[in-house]
Amino acid sequence: MSDVDRDKATGGAGSHSEDDADTEQALRTRLLERARALLAANHREGVSPWEGRRYDYTCPSAHSYPFQWFWDSCFHAIALTRIDVELAKAELRSLAQGARPDGFMPHIIFWQPDREVMARQTLRLSTPYLSASIQPPVIALAVERVYRASGDERFRDELLPVVAAFFRWLRDNRDPDGDELIAVVQPDESGVDASPKYDPLLGYPGDNDDLVRAINAIYARYEPLGNNDRRIIAADVFVVEDVLVNSIYAQGLQSLARLTRDPSEAAEYRAWAGRVLAALMEKCYDPVRGLFLDLLGTEERRTEVNTISALFPLIVEGLDPAVAERLVADHLRNPAEYALPYPAPSVAADAPGFNPDHPHGFIWRGPTWVNSNWFLAHALHDRGYVEDARRIGAATRALVDAQGFRECYNPYTGEGQNASGFGWTSLVVDFPD
Ligand code: GLC
Repeated sequence: MSDVDRDKATGGAGSHSEDDADTEQALRTRLLERARALLAANHREGVSPWEGRRYDYTCPSAHSYPFQWFWDSCFHAIALTRIDVELAKAELRSLAQGARPDGFMPHIIFWQPDREVMARQTLRLSTPYLSASIQPPVIALAVERVYRASGDERFRDELLPVVAAFFRWLRDNRDPDGDELIAVVQPDESGVDASPKYDPLLGYPGDNDDLVRAINAIYARYEPLGNNDRRIIAADVFVVEDVLVNSIYAQGLQSLARLTRDPSEAAEYRAWAGRVLAALMEKCYDPVRGLFLDLLGTEERRTEVNTISALFPLIVEGLDPAVAERLVADHLRNPAEYALPYPAPSVAADAPGFNPDHPHGFIWRGPTWVNSNWFLAHALHDRGYVEDARRIGAATRALVDAQGFRECYNPYTGEGQNASGFGWTSLVVDFPD
């Protein structure tokens, strides 16, 4: 029984703040129940028609995204630690089945390939059932969270080698210039597909059809190169050392350091993460603007566009507190950039290309997303910016409560946009208190 319940049970008069606490508790309970129902509705299990493998995962959205997406599944597993930790384990075990012997993990597994739905996606495949692209390596953090929630050593020992091999694959195949930052080779790989920061590399697409054409043109250039990542990067068609991706990479290495039982391996992961953070500072940090900017092309031209990535090094342990303070004080709390009524928009409101709406799937150009809010809220909380973290958490709960589990939301009006019944929005149940 909570204090508020006890007060009521003993006939005490609820003060205003007790009523608020009651309402807040009711909201959280309601969201947890709705998240449980959504994740159950998006749950898929069976045996694949290829290689007869058992799968058990949550799709991002029954209609728009019926397959197993990489970083979505990591978020689903994290949300499931609040609901059913056995399902969280199953989610990541299914995802791990997509790993290739060389360590690569695909951004989509087509457990039940549906040619019609697949035809609607822009895709590069490595087999008929696995994509040839990556997504941000959230899997180390997801395994850590599920391990902590379950205490299951067998799960940790089973997943750790798969995740470690993926991180080594990323280093060996996506960092040919050896600067410690890994590259993405097409917009989908960063998870923030249509972000305006990529516009110069894509010929400034005006809408989603333009973007799809630009991505297909990239794939056509890659076709003769097979799936050889080093040759693809050398071709310099779309190469981005992305701040969001590299922040998640560094954060993942820190998770691996905590997960491994071997102290020398742990030291190696910590040192590796430190090198990634140092490279972010050296190459991506703009000390005049006080934010981080992605590097475009093998020549590493800094983008000028201030997107949510600019704040992502906040999630990496060891970031200089003075740098963190500028990210928070100058940008996150700035009403001209990120402090909109429903923070935090995916692009700063004063940046070129900012669009708070979501015209025909032209995404990540302004709307607020729950996964980036979740990353930021935890990072802020852990750094002692407790009020900022609370504000983002409260705004996120209000959005989901009013509009349902949508893919993203208008940062001014809160209107839900694009897919409904969207899986990773269930992260709303895992914000810090
Ligand atoms: C969209 C998002 C991407 C996500 C996918 C499936 O393409 O931009 O990040 O993984 O949908 O939900």
